[in-house]
Amino acid sequence: MITVQFMPDNVTVIAEVGEPLLKVAARAGITIPTGCLMGSCHACEVEVEGDADPICACISAVPVGVDPLGINLYVDPTW
Ligand code: FES
Repeated sequence: MITVQFMPDNVTVIAEVGEPLLKVAARAGITIPTGCLMGSCHACEVEVEGDADPICACISAVPVGVDPLGINLYVDPTW
């Protein structure tokens, strides 16, 4: 089990390695905007703490070995 911390609101939830990020977010009461759900439209982009590049939440899962896992939600007014 891994602690996932959603920023900027600092919502913490426990998740299993390999669990889809969208599912973890939904359980935490967080809605990540989505579009295609296939990794193409990038509506669901989030930042993983410590990673330079944003990832598409719809095709990402909780990774092994990062605990706590910090997820930075974009507040992008264009979406
Ligand atoms: S919803 Fe389109 S890339 Fe994730």
